[in-house]
Amino acid sequence: MDSIEYEKRTITRGALKYTGKAKQVYTTDDPDILWVHYLDQATALNGKVKETISGKGELNSAISQLLFNYLTGNNIKNHYLHSISKTDELITSLDILPIEVVTRNYASGHFVSKFAATPMQKLTPIVQEFYYKSDALDDPFINDSQILALNYATNDELTKLRAESTIINRHLIDLFRQANIQLIDFKLEFGRTKNGDILLADELSPDNMRLVDIATGNSLDKDVFRKHSGDVTVGYQEVLTRLQQII
Ligand code: C5P
Repeated sequence: MDSIEYEKRTITRGALKYTGKAKQVYTTDDPDILWVHYLDQATALNGKVKETISGKGELNSAISQLLFNYLTGNNIKNHYLHSISKTDELITSLDILPIEVVTRNYASGHFVSKFAATPMQKLTPIVQEFYYKSDALDDPFINDSQILALNYATNDELTKLRAESTIINRHLIDLFRQANIQLIDFKLEFGRTKNGDILLADELSPDNMRLVDIATGNSLDKDVFRKHSGDVTVGYQEVLTRLQQII
């Protein structure tokens, strides 16, 4: 499929704009709209390890669409517009900030390896970290003054990123708790509209968040791929099925 009816007009897919780790993004005949295609791909170590995993694109797309719709219902402004197929969607074209915002509720991953924190230790207050988006530099940690000096975002934008991430965290914690899932940590990306508004962007899936089954303690996210501890799609399917039951 290379065109779709959206808001009483036809949107047609254009050229490939870029290929990310698990997605392709195409232009459309509307300069304000992009066409995203989710790939059956998993990566670890910032793309150094790559594998094709059948069905993963559909799962990521379904979970992401469900979470964006849930956040839209909770007044969180975001880039998601419309579902095209099981793997494709329309999004608003944004000027993406070169910053990843990581929120941590419990110690895991790099927070444990960097600070020798006790795994799964509850973090009070929650931890928020910024990383500079650069594959070549392995997404280094970046602080506020570095972001301001390099003009990657304004002070107001940093305040918004923190505030939005805190609110999104509360909504996601609530939702996952109803699905008997604990939200450990997650990464968000944001972009600017032409008017300078900040919108939540990228993807919301177990590729970008750590999720633990409260009943069993099992990982339901990309850690399963990172640690070679099983088939990631089993956990992703579980997340999707549980969310579909409550949303
Ligand atoms: O690796 P680390 O512990 O810093 O990751 C924190 C959270 O951010 C995890 O949920 C991870 O999946 C996510 N993350 C991401 N993309 C990155 C870095 C981290 O989605 N480039």
